Amino acid sequence: MSKLGKILLGILVGLVVLLIVATSATIGWRPIIGPKARALTDRKFEVTPQRLERGRYLFNSLTLCVDCHSPHDLKRPDHPIQTGMEGAGELMPVDDLPGRVVAPNITPDPQTGAGTWTDDQLARAIREGIGHDGRTLFPMMPYENFKHLSDEDLASLVVYMRSLRPVRNELPKTEIIFPVKYLIRSVPKPITAPVSAPDPGDRLKWGAYLVKVGNCADCHTPADKGQPLPGLDFAGGQVFNGAWGRTVSANITPDASGIGYYDEALFIQVLRTGYVKARKLDALMPVEQYKGLSDDDLKAMYAYVRTLKPVKHRVDNAEPPTFCKLCRAKHGAGDQN
Ligand code: HEC
Ligand code: HEC
Repeated sequence: MSKLGKILLGILVGLVVLLIVATSATIGWRPIIGPKARALTDRKFEVTPQRLERGRYLFNSLTLCVDCHSPHDLKRPDHPIQTGMEGAGELMPVDDLPGRVVAPNITPDPQTGAGTWTDDQLARAIREGIGHDGRTLFPMMPYENFKHLSDEDLASLVVYMRSLRPVRNELPKTEIIFPVKYLIRSVPKPITAPVSAPDPGDRLKWGAYLVKVGNCADCHTPADKGQPLPGLDFAGGQVFNGAWGRTVSANITPDASGIGYYDEALFIQVLRTGYVKARKLDALMPVEQYKGLSDDDLKAMYAYVRTLKPVKHRVDNAEPPTFCKLCRAKHGAGDQN
């Protein structure tokens, strides 16, 4: 080999080593070799009346499955779910997504839904982010929250999904753009150990569990490209553009700029009615689902929300959007932060 050849080879080897070191230290190898996934098992969840009831409650009132996985009537106020289409899937009507994101039909229809998927295929998709066909699910499907679902709650959800009315509803497939399509492969994490829920008697821990699997932070913590902004947990300011128009989430920390003035009764009223006294909340706040939560669960959630770190961050949808230096987005009262 010529001297120049040796130098070039040396440089090439150096670059490859650098690439390997950089990849290992930053994004890791998952984008290239595929997600971490465990093999499927043939477990079957026994159908019991308790599981059907618990699953119905979770699916419809807490974990928002029905909200994302059903088509809405966007022409009517409050965007109700189209009757008889619960779980039939929808193209997510949200702007600014990296591609076409479709929440699939998860009713037991064998052709267009989940009729032929096994219990463990569903379980793995919900908590571990791997679709029935082995693909990495776009993390808008909140499996990073659902990984905390107890084994019993997971079983109840799967049992309940099987009891949905089968709806024939053909939808396009999710198509995520490059490079996001590859980057998301580092998100899924297999679950191989038992997961239990906290004791409902421990009000704070139980409230934290409900808030986690109820996906509150996904909307109430502002994020940049899907990454929550540090120090702004539950402080609002996340901007949503979509078929319904533009709205921004509220600060729900106990600061004066948040919901510091709330008491338990007001919190329950807001989550049941969508009204903060006379002020009507935007329909994006999923009150249609949360209003089905029990008093006991709402009280536990409130107890937990009171313990959040107060963050000073004014967000007011009644004022015109201005730039906010805290969350680096434009929202009402942004210039007052
Ligand atoms: C914020 C919206 C959202 C919520 C809430 C949500 N999902 Fe999803 N779900 C999605 C999207 C979007 C996908 C598709 C992701 C993709 O194709 O990459 C998905 C995918 C799935 C899949 C995988 C289907 C397949 O192809 O294998 C299952 C199963 C599922 N969701 C069930 C549920 C259940 C059960 C709940 C409630 C516990 C739930 N989802 C809550 C948006 C959501
Ligand atoms: C899909 C997104 C979304 C989810 C999920 C969500 N919220 Fe909201 N929430 C919003 C938006 C947007 C607003 C502001 C609406 C407005 O100003 O009209 C809001 C407003 C509120 C308010 C009213 C604050 C005020 O202005 O007085 C409370 C309280 C609240 N949310 C609590 C919660 C809790 C608790 C959860 C979880 C159980 C939750 N939210 C989940 C989007 C969401």
